[in-house]
Amino acid sequence: MAILLPGGAGFIGSHTAVELLKEGREIVIIDNFANSTPKALEAIKRITGKDFKFYEMNYLDREKLEKVFEENNIEAVMNFAGFKAVGESVQKPIEYYTNNISGALVLLDTMKKYNVKKFIFSSSATVYGEPEKMPITEETPTGGTTNPYGTTKLFIEQILKDLYKSDNTWDICILRYFNPVGAHESGLIGEEPQGIPNNLMPYVARVAAGTLKELSVFGNDYDTPDGTGVRDYIHVVDLAKGHIKALQKLEKENQGLYIYNLGTGKGYSVLDMVKAFEKATGKEVPYKIAPRRAGDIAICYANPNKAKQELEWQTEKTLDDMCKDSWNYIKKQK
Ligand code: UFG
Repeated sequence: MAILLPGGAGFIGSHTAVELLKEGREIVIIDNFANSTPKALEAIKRITGKDFKFYEMNYLDREKLEKVFEENNIEAVMNFAGFKAVGESVQKPIEYYTNNISGALVLLDTMKKYNVKKFIFSSSATVYGEPEKMPITEETPTGGTTNPYGTTKLFIEQILKDLYKSDNTWDICILRYFNPVGAHESGLIGEEPQGIPNNLMPYVARVAAGTLKELSVFGNDYDTPDGTGVRDYIHVVDLAKGHIKALQKLEKENQGLYIYNLGTGKGYSVLDMVKAFEKATGKEVPYKIAPRRAGDIAICYANPNKAKQELEWQTEKTLDDMCKDSWNYIKKQK
């Protein structure tokens, strides 16, 4: 029995692949390298000393996808094949809706055909829009997304709820990620954004490495302790482990739809992150204060208690680990 990972060569997919293999699970990865490289596949094998089947294909290709289900004994699917750049989604809404939503529909319909009904979905804290109260619980109202990327996550969540309503023999787990950062401690897999990074930590790491001149801090007049935006940064390895727990939950319960926040429960500001990075690496991160970025909110952090109680999962890595591991990965890429 194998777990199918569309997008398994990407940032979160590759780290989850490692944890699944470490647990002794069989996996099958499909990826078209839209936002990843074949190098990650070799790295997964090196880290774990284990092999797996790989198909280079777009998960929207129904014919090829059916072949994957014919040729393997798939028991569950974790979908990491979504596009995830907020700014790009504003420029390319059709591409985002097609890849994320049509992709999920093709996947779910194929799963239905082969009677595979365990599905773990990579959602995001972005589905909460601009929440009125912190921390964010799973009961915090969703909606009010400000970009097509976020809206694809919201729509797919709705599709999954409707699917479960129509047939409660599905086992579905929606994982709402907060801000994944860091890299595997080996430095062999990590986040490799193409071009200039949009996200804070990859940007900070490149400034420290000298590839980028200085960080622009987007706004210092928010209603936060130091005026800069506050987020819940979670180490990608902790996040990957959350998927293992989610899978175990689905296997144990056998039927249900579950939703969990995956975060640390702590918020750090942009300047906190700059300081933590400097302390962890001994590198300087020059920055300037720039105007607010459109669509940003002031504060976003999780209440992770539901995942702690029901999945027996909580984060273990520290802010220092997140910074050190990001830096270790960047250094190895040079
Ligand atoms: N920031 C800067 N300078 C930069 C980049 C970011 O000051 O160059 C600031 C932002 O303004 C924000 C914080 O750093 O306050 C974090 O920004 P990121 O772009 O790293 O992350 P976001 O919180 O904007 O978005 C992330 C993911 C989304 C996801 C969202 C969920 O990128 O996919 O978290 O909350 F939807």
